[in-house]
Amino acid sequence: MKDVQTVMQMGPVIPVLAFASVDEGVSVCKALYDGGVKVFEITLRTDAGLGVIERMAGWAADAAVGVGTLVTSAQCRAARDAGATFGVSPGLTAALDAAARDAGLPLLPGVMTPTDIVAALALGYRAVKFFPAVPAGGIPMLKAFHGPFPDLSFCPTGGIDVASAPDFLALPNVACVGGSWLTPKAAVAARDWRQITRLAQAAAALPRG
Ligand code: 3PG
Repeated sequence: MKDVQTVMQMGPVIPVLAFASVDEGVSVCKALYDGGVKVFEITLRTDAGLGVIERMAGWAADAAVGVGTLVTSAQCRAARDAGATFGVSPGLTAALDAAARDAGLPLLPGVMTPTDIVAALALGYRAVKFFPAVPAGGIPMLKAFHGPFPDLSFCPTGGIDVASAPDFLALPNVACVGGSWLTPKAAVAARDWRQITRLAQAAAALPRG
């Protein structure tokens, strides 16, 4: 099991994924992998999520399959049992922290405010997701966080795309970014896996700061 910092280094982009079916999810993940994406946040926003994790877990030795949108303790156990090797949550509670630890699931917890960050630091986290990144202040907010929290690494997610990602990745406290732009709904509906592979190639080639 990799720690979350190691997973973040596998970016620079963690695709945030939601699927209508398990077969769709497997096809999309393979198309992303063909484009050089090695880390997947498969969310539990649809019923297909756990099934896709099950199918993708262990599929490629150099890939990390994680679970996203974790909000309950039961989801941590289910995702671990399905084969997820890390978790991402939009926010953090003591119960979610305990459940992720009990499940042995390294967690990238979501924060949006300095109070959220202080709480995450108190629970031992040194890397967090900044969510929703653009609505919550984007780059100026991340710059402002760097003063009081110089050792904290962020994965900003929410409102980022291939054009804005480099400016986020250039920040000293940003290790990777998350986003759903690699899987446009129209391309998925058209089963245009080549387009998804091309978007993955562009994302995998983004420079880090
Ligand atoms: C997330 O859950 O992290 C976001 O929904 C992804 O945000 P985006 O769709 O704006 O990339």
